[in-house]
Amino acid sequence: MEVEEAETRRQQSSSSSTTTLVILTAAFLPVSLLIASVFFFNNNHSIIHGFSPPSSFLTWSSNQAAPNLPNGSRHSSSLLEKACAVTRDPKLEKVEASLAMARALIKEAAATLNCTTASSALHQDSDYVPFGDVYRNPCAFHRSYLLMEKMFKIFVYQEGDPPLFHDGPCKSIYSMEGLFLSFIETDHTNFTTNNPDEAHVYFLPFSVVKIIEHLFHPVVRDKAVLERTVVDYVHIISDKYPFWNRSLGADHFMISCHDWGPRATWYEKKLYYNSIRVLCNANTSEHFNPKKDASFPEINLVSGEIPDSTTVTSSGSENRTNLAFFAGRMHGKIRPLLFRHWKEKDPDVLVYETLPEGVSYQEMMRKSRFCLCPSGHEVASPRIPEAIYAGCVPVLISRNYVAPFSDVLNWEAFSVQVSVEGIEDLKEILMGIPEGRYLELVRNVEQVRRHFEVNDPPRRFDVFHMILHSVWLRRLNFRIPS
Ligand SMILES: *[C@@H]1O[C@H](CO)[C@@H](O)[C@H](O)[C@H]1NC(C)=O
Ligand SMILES: *[C@@H]1O[C@H](CO)[C@@H](O)[C@H](O)[C@H]1NC(C)=O
Ligand SMILES: *[C@@H]1O[C@H](CO)[C@@H](O)[C@H](O)[C@H]1NC(C)=O
Ligand SMILES: *[C@@H]1O[C@H](CO)[C@@H](O)[C@H](O)[C@H]1NC(C)=O
Ligand SMILES: *[C@@H]1O[C@H](CO)[C@@H](O)[C@H](O)[C@H]1NC(C)=O
Ligand SMILES: *[C@@H]1O[C@H](CO)[C@@H](O)[C@H](O)[C@H]1NC(C)=O
Repeated sequence: MEVEEAETRRQQSSSSSTTTLVILTAAFLPVSLLIASVFFFNNNHSIIHGFSPPSSFLTWSSNQAAPNLPNGSRHSSSLLEKACAVTRDPKLEKVEASLAMARALIKEAAATLNCTTASSALHQDSDYVPFGDVYRNPCAFHRSYLLMEKMFKIFVYQEGDPPLFHDGPCKSIYSMEGLFLSFIETDHTNFTTNNPDEAHVYFLPFSVVKIIEHLFHPVVRDKAVLERTVVDYVHIISDKYPFWNRSLGADHFMISCHDWGPRATWYEKKLYYNSIRVLCNANTSEHFNPKKDASFPEINLVSGEIPDSTTVTSSGSENRTNLAFFAGRMHGKIRPLLFRHWKEKDPDVLVYETLPEGVSYQEMMRKSRFCLCPSGHEVASPRIPEAIYAGCVPVLISRNYVAPFSDVLNWEAFSVQVSVEGIEDLKEILMGIPEGRYLELVRNVEQVRRHFEVNDPPRRFDVFHMILHSVWLRRLNFRIPS
């Protein structure tokens, strides 16, 4: 199916369906999120706050929350009583106790100003020790990461058959869906458990790309197949196991890199409002909620081969003779503006819709100081990791995009963010960055590269582990009442 087509259809139908959903949900109280929001809003020391989150976390409640986040004043006491009346569940209490301990240790690490002194014993690591400006709080991150490795347990539901379940694309811009599914199902990393009673989170192993590929008829164009498949699946697992009902979905997660990833969750309210959604299309205007949802990096594996990261070398900055570079098709709302101002107009800002004959995309990235990453059909751009691999400083041009791992990484230390309004001043903005600052950005790009690299099997601190860490961090942010 054409991506372009998908986008148009999505635009046409999004507003009306969203409205329906919001109305439906007004009467619906997610108990677990209520607990979560107490943790978020009334506790200044919540885990995510411990990382001093990006402004999107902080401004969320005032600017965007109105339609989709639970409003404390609306909650009736009868439902609260109901939540407290649930009988005790010792297995759940054990899981929650382990999370409480992890929370306390991470908070302690977050308060440490110099992690190479006080808690050095806790932070030794033969592979890598996070440090420097690229992290919001390197000590807290490292502590949290090590605890994740030691404790985090994921239960993958076995229900459902390939190709719609337990399988996904491992090629193209959607490849992260397939890679994640394949890594988690083969479990080279020991994060999964066969015992659902000891799990911290429960994974719904469907692939939005595969569902659309197999069930979406290009002529009939019945998009409801997506919703039906996902809703049916949630019914199956919530009938068979106690876990979905117990948390109202809050400790369950799904992943999707497709533009329609968010749409796949619309019709199952608990999935939409409570569950952890790991989405490439991390668009806050479409109710992506960074407190519970995680931004999934979009990585384009053109041939399906995982590039050997050790052979990708970035060239030194003296060889970077172009100021800025972009090549890509015209779609979405931002790229037309970029093309209007810069397409084949300036010898320093090289913007192409199609690259001239014989010019290599990879080579251009290696020869440029800055690589432009404007949103296209969806907010995420595969150019962001591509630029990072090539040692080219990414320039994010997007609206309402929550960049991957922004709860841990300080994007300002290794990227430049230009507003859509700033597109016409792009050259001035980039030329205005002093050489010292530029070299710092380049060093930091080099440092964060490991967090965006794909390895098979996964390696510590790589993109697979960072995604798991995003889920782990969100799970730490709420308690399920017993
Ligand atoms: C949410 O709560 C605020 C005050 O806490 C109140 O002013 C507002 O009307 C409430 N919104 C809804 C939709 O209930
Ligand atoms: C942290 O502690 C180490 C060891 O005592 C010291 O060498 C280093 O300079 C300290 N760093 C900062 C930022 O204070
Ligand atoms: C996973 O567990 C197996 C068996 O306990 C062990 O041999 C293997 O080294 C572990 N793998 C990792 C990546 O920790
Ligand atoms: C979960 O709740 C649904 C709807 O209330 C119910 O039909 C289902 O049987 C429950 N599941 C379990 C395992 O009790
Ligand atoms: C810059 O390019 C030249 C010529 O291709 C090459 O010999 C040199 O190693 C490059 N410098 C760096 C730091 O990559
Ligand atoms: C983000 O969502 C808004 C609201 O639906 C939409 O107008 C905008 O085009 C989306 N951004 C992208 C890049 O798709």
